[in-house]
Amino acid sequence: MSSSSFVIRLETEGDAHILSELSAQAFGPGRFARSAYRVRESIPPVGVLCLCAMLGGRLVGGIRFTAISIGDQEGAALLGPLVVDPAEKGQGFGRALVEEGLARARSEGFSLVLLVGDMPYYGRFGFQPVAPGQMTLPGPVDPARLLAVELVPGALQRAVGQVKGHAR
Ligand SMILES: CC(C)(COP(=O)(O)OP(=O)(O)OC[C@H]1O[C@@H](n2cnc3c(N)ncnc32)[C@H](O)[C@@H]1OP(=O)(O)O)[C@@H](O)C(=O)NCCC(=O)NCCS
Repeated sequence: MSSSSFVIRLETEGDAHILSELSAQAFGPGRFARSAYRVRESIPPVGVLCLCAMLGGRLVGGIRFTAISIGDQEGAALLGPLVVDPAEKGQGFGRALVEEGLARARSEGFSLVLLVGDMPYYGRFGFQPVAPGQMTLPGPVDPARLLAVELVPGALQRAVGQVKGHAR
């Protein structure tokens, strides 16, 4: 971490537009059609898990989680979006956001975190690919990019079926 003025804090109302600009930059106009976006559509994210990375008072990244059910099981969360300002990449801000987000998700009682993303990045946090066919999302997903990490041992095995967002 490059600066002692780095902090992670809860997202506030004024942060939303900066985060959507960063997301637009990172994911482009196609982001609204992505399956992960469609799970989150119209569902408020978990407020206590909406975090911003601040460097010297400037927002440099953010992470959100949405509560989901998988089949008939609740207790999982979908990570995303995770975004770091492209000008600030590679300084550990993404790592700090993921680690803090997972720690808070665990203390909020979530047993499993799911995401659609790059295994070469998320593998370092313990994410592993979900077995092909174990879960379905509202749209196509490359099975190599559907990743999960257990916060409670055994949670992944029990999570079978349709992934749906819900308010929490
Ligand atoms: C992916 C992202 C969040 C990483 O943030 P960051 O602050 O740069 O990440 P960190 O500093 O914690 O980690 C940097 C390391 O991750 C690696 N990395 C970054 N993106 C990667 C990817 N997609 N695949 C594999 N490795 C990746 C970097 O090469 C670097 O490796 P090193 O530690 O060996 O040098 C950021 O680059 C970003 O916002 N990208 C665009 C949006 C996105 O892809 N979001 C995630 C998908 S949901």
